[in-house]
Amino acid sequence: MNSMLQIVYDISLLLYYWLEGIVLFFVPKRLRYKSVTDDIVLITGGGSGLGRLLALRFARRGARVVVWDINKQGLDETLRLIDGEKHVGVTADNNDIKIKSAYSYVCDVSDRAQVYETAKQVRESVGKVTILVNNAGIVSGKRFLETPDDHILRTFHVNAISHFWTIKAFLPDMMTSTRNGNNNNNKGYGHLVSVASVAGLSGTVRLTDYCASKFAAVGLDESLRLELQCDGYTGIKSTVVCPYFINTGMFDGVSSSIIPILEPTYVADEIMSAILTNQEVLVIPKLFYTLLSLKSLLPTKASFITLNNTFGFTKTMTEFKGHSK
Ligand SMILES: NC(=O)c1ccc[n+]([C@@H]2O[C@H](COP(=O)([O-])OP(=O)(O)OC[C@H]3O[C@@H](n4cnc5c(N)ncnc54)[C@H](O)[C@@H]3O)[C@@H](O)[C@H]2O)c1
Repeated sequence: MNSMLQIVYDISLLLYYWLEGIVLFFVPKRLRYKSVTDDIVLITGGGSGLGRLLALRFARRGARVVVWDINKQGLDETLRLIDGEKHVGVTADNNDIKIKSAYSYVCDVSDRAQVYETAKQVRESVGKVTILVNNAGIVSGKRFLETPDDHILRTFHVNAISHFWTIKAFLPDMMTSTRNGNNNNNKGYGHLVSVASVAGLSGTVRLTDYCASKFAAVGLDESLRLELQCDGYTGIKSTVVCPYFINTGMFDGVSSSIIPILEPTYVADEIMSAILTNQEVLVIPKLFYTLLSLKSLLPTKASFITLNNTFGFTKTMTEFKGHSK
């Protein structure tokens, strides 16, 4: 295609996707949910908080669920809750959705060798993972110079670098997987989910290592999405999730004067909705789409006043305690 034709083609596509976005905005999301009944979903950090809530939601939709965590007790509780689920839905073609058995593995995602070894065990005992949710996360919550070196390294290893190991472990299977409707122009089948944070899009006080690690997770998601798209693997979807503070205990003690701290069940429902509709980027609450755009639109000093003085984002971590354990 000559360059003029290419430009016209690109502009037409741009208008098409823009229009598609407007139309889809008015279509209820649940009408566009994909089925996950034939999927194997692996969730890291599935022993508590968001990871557990997502595990329950995937199980209710009939997926085979695998949870990883360093917390054995937490994993047992997640499996117990899934086993106790009575909720059985129906698929679009009116077949019953059955709760399938779930599996748990103690795995420290920051340990590359453990990730590869445990991934091998999952492939042999459960099957090929088709949805990977990188959710495990930690926070130090100290001022820059007070953060011990090993905390900085651990934060990066858990929140960002582990994503490289888990994706490397499961992506090759997704690249060779096929599902009905896939053809040579739509290679692969799978979904990569990264639970990052609003802190991966905007820095804040007492969160230097956390923000930097979440920026890294966001960068990995975006770059890999482009790479897979350019290589024709359009059957492999990705979703990066950027929520504000959530009431899971991880950020106990934080204060937020204007924007309410989010409820975990609401965030888990929003994440499921984004995954089931193949939404690429989810920022919660939606107000942050506007607030974050101010960073690019306003001069730096003006955006500092708006984001930090008006919304008080520089003071949120002042009383931070984090998990009691
Ligand atoms: N809670 C919030 O305010 C908030 C806001 C934005 C984003 N997030 C992100 O959401 C994700 C889930 O957090 P949450 O709020 O449910 O907190 P959580 O502490 O309840 O869950 C995190 C889980 O990760 C596990 N984990 C920690 N290190 C691990 C390791 N090395 N290997 C395996 N598992 C490990 C923990 O044991 C825990 O079960 C995290 O990535 C977090 O950064 C949380």
